[in-house]
Amino acid sequence: MIASSSRASALQPSLIREVAETGMGMQDIIPLWFGEGRWPTSKIAVAAAQKALAEEDHFYQPNSGKPALRRCLQQYMNRLYELNLDISSITVTGSGMQAMMLSAQALTDPGDKIIVVGPAWPNLAESFKIAGGVITFIPLMPENGCWHLDLDRLLDSLTPDTKAVLVNSPNNPTGWVMPADAQEIVLNHCRKHGIWIISDDVYSRLYQHGDAAPHMMRLCAPEDRVISVNSFSKAWSMTGWRLGWLAGPPELEPIFAQLTEYNISCSAGFVQEAGRAMIEHGEEEVRQLQARLKKSYQLTKARLQAIVEVDFIDPDGAFYSFFSIKGMTNSTGFCKALLKTAGVGLAPGLAFGAEAEGYVRLCYAQEPALLNDAFDRFEAGYKQAIIDSH
Ligand SMILES: Cc1ncc(COP(=O)(O)O)c(C=O)c1O
Repeated sequence: MIASSSRASALQPSLIREVAETGMGMQDIIPLWFGEGRWPTSKIAVAAAQKALAEEDHFYQPNSGKPALRRCLQQYMNRLYELNLDISSITVTGSGMQAMMLSAQALTDPGDKIIVVGPAWPNLAESFKIAGGVITFIPLMPENGCWHLDLDRLLDSLTPDTKAVLVNSPNNPTGWVMPADAQEIVLNHCRKHGIWIISDDVYSRLYQHGDAAPHMMRLCAPEDRVISVNSFSKAWSMTGWRLGWLAGPPELEPIFAQLTEYNISCSAGFVQEAGRAMIEHGEEEVRQLQARLKKSYQLTKARLQAIVEVDFIDPDGAFYSFFSIKGMTNSTGFCKALLKTAGVGLAPGLAFGAEAEGYVRLCYAQEPALLNDAFDRFEAGYKQAIIDSH
């Protein structure tokens, strides 16, 4: 038995991975389990990375990121969300995941109380657990066909001894979006008690009702205890490149820089050039993705609403459908059985928190023909998968 640290041993294995790794060994599976689109990264990014490599961008970079990329992200955020951030607010990271981990390492002492609005992508809470945080989930609930947050319940949980609250909006897996008025109430409450807000904005541009979802930082002064976590993975289809960024109070930047030194030292220079090219020249690509996702969403909604046993709950953003199925109570068993009965790979609800058992997540960032094939297969195989999962 390997004597790993108690924190490492306490980590939950990812149930999404568990199902995916079962399915990856099987023939003819349509994989809709991970949070990534079917479309490759734009040639704009590829050309920028190739140019940077040809020009010998092979060396270590500043901890906080290349100044040109930081400036570009500063201007992008200021333009899009009407902010007034200084460049010192921006830290480039080696992914959204790493941005979350740096936030956890920067803020958390062992035993700190951390509140997470859930269901949530498991890596968010686990990052804070690695740093010693003690996690409490405040659940979103379905109400009249939409996901709903009980704001009073959230505020009651945000007591003066709370270190931080994690809000992912648009939310993975539900697609829930925190409205601007609720953001203001949470911000004012957290200001009063000195609580940090970690706003996971990686799906910000994947919003059903506009170009970008309401942003917590819109309401902030520079010194407010708000950190925005972001990523190139989703809106710019760059999951494999591993690039993200943080925006937060300028006082945190040297701390993030030092933590970066001891985590990965810096993000790869040529990858940063690819990211910069996408921010500077890739706006049209973001719009194309938004348009594609709108079609995939409409198809997904029509196909799932046509299945009587499925309780479809409308997402406001991201690229998932998170739904329950009458009679299905073991989501991990169901997803594994569905691989055999339908050849479709979904993510089990339980991966996103105990309250999400009985749900499954489907990533609809796919071409319509493939989605239709997946729904045909799902319709033919889901009843048997429920039986097999009991
Ligand atoms: C809510 C959320 N935050 C952060 C990330 C991290 O993205 P990446 O590490 O690919 O930048 C993901 C990825 O699925 C996510 O769903």
